[in-house]
Amino acid sequence: MKFFIKTYGCQMNVRDTEAVRSLLQRHGHVAVASEDEADLVVVNTCSVRGKAEDKALGKLSLLVAGRRERPARIVGVIGCMAQRMGAGLLKRVPGLDFAVGTHRIASLPSVINLVREGRGPYADVAEEDADLDLLQGHADGAASAFVNILLGCDRFCAYCVVPHVRGRERSRPAADILAEIRALAARGVREVTLLGQSVMSYGRANAVWPDTHVSPMGLREPLPRLLEAASAIEGLARIRFTTGHPSGCTEELARAMAGLPAVCEHLHLPLQSGSDRILQRMRRGYSTDGYRHAAGRLRKAVPGLALTTDLIVGFPGETPEDFEATRQFCGEMEFDNAFIFKYSPRPNTPAAEWDDTVTAEEKLRRNKVLLADQDRQSLTLHAGLVGRVVEVLVEGVSLRNPHRWSGRTRTNKIVIFERAAAMNAGMLARVRIERVMAQTLYGTVAA
Ligand code: 5AD
Ligand code: SF4
Repeated sequence: MKFFIKTYGCQMNVRDTEAVRSLLQRHGHVAVASEDEADLVVVNTCSVRGKAEDKALGKLSLLVAGRRERPARIVGVIGCMAQRMGAGLLKRVPGLDFAVGTHRIASLPSVINLVREGRGPYADVAEEDADLDLLQGHADGAASAFVNILLGCDRFCAYCVVPHVRGRERSRPAADILAEIRALAARGVREVTLLGQSVMSYGRANAVWPDTHVSPMGLREPLPRLLEAASAIEGLARIRFTTGHPSGCTEELARAMAGLPAVCEHLHLPLQSGSDRILQRMRRGYSTDGYRHAAGRLRKAVPGLALTTDLIVGFPGETPEDFEATRQFCGEMEFDNAFIFKYSPRPNTPAAEWDDTVTAEEKLRRNKVLLADQDRQSLTLHAGLVGRVVEVLVEGVSLRNPHRWSGRTRTNKIVIFERAAAMNAGMLARVRIERVMAQTLYGTVAA
């Protein structure tokens, strides 16, 4: 079948989409570039906020309604919302052909066959992983790739749906991960991002280490050791990992980041709130002081480390004073970038039982205030880069302007620059920064 996958949500979902695309291709299905051409449309969904679910529901209703003109088209759902709602989703949007949860995406080819045989609608949301080995496929020709290392999450923050939709933490065997990265590097991938919801917990559950891996740096903790082993892979220029948690920012990780040249000077370390009272209610497992120490330890070890974060405004019980504490603490941390979200109650989470005390208008106001603070902060940091030459991994032609390239610095900032003739995706360029915005740097290739 000709298929198209529409993706909502985080990097895990982007990665799942890519793995599923590759799996379906191996089963003889053909990926098409637009939804219009597709006989099979799969929507990969996110449950992290109500708005993400509403968007997907809207999209699914449109797709199902569109079947009046295309009765033979198959429309199915995968991802976090499929996992959360299961057969309920098939009832909620009558006409959907399948809902396959996060643990089961490797079984998609057989689910599609069942539906084609007329045995749909079909729901599979079992919490047991279907064959993960089938999910190692990657797209061709990319400069950068995501690699799963840790699935699920055991942290159970009070607001978060992830442990409920992605299950308990499972670390992939290091040998499998390293083989996958080696294969990517052999195909020309220059950068990998190691993915896990709480990636610093890698190896604390179910990881299998290759007996032969001895750490020359004397590293004992699993993530630093994995970083070291990946660093030794030929052809790989950059390694990232996300998402971090302050409890994992150990001296050993700092030493690995400082000592391994391929490991990039960037860390995404969600803060969520700068008020100790709210952090405690969120069950984040650290105080502002703990966060300060964790970030400080890495910054001290890794000069020029870019720190990015996530923040939630309007958590139940967040007072104007709590919000001010967040603004103050963000000012102190000088984040390179921040993703700011309005609190959204999620079914089956403890916080959903508490009064949603902050009004929608006030959440919006706090969101805008923090965004403006962060824009000023990012601009100030970026202004210091004007005139400097930075290393950019060329990712491709700029979407906005075909006469320019787009790429990223080691600190994960987007750089747009003039297209020199002899360049292609995957090359490392030296770019002199000439102009900056809060989210983007602009420059020219340095001689
Ligand atoms: N409401 C709002 N934002 C949330 N996040 C997670 N759960 C919620 C929620 N219920 C945010 C957090 C997390 C990011 C991926 O999404 O900031 O780090
Ligand atoms: Fe990613 Fe969480 Fe959204 Fe699932 S619910 S797609 S894990 S952000």
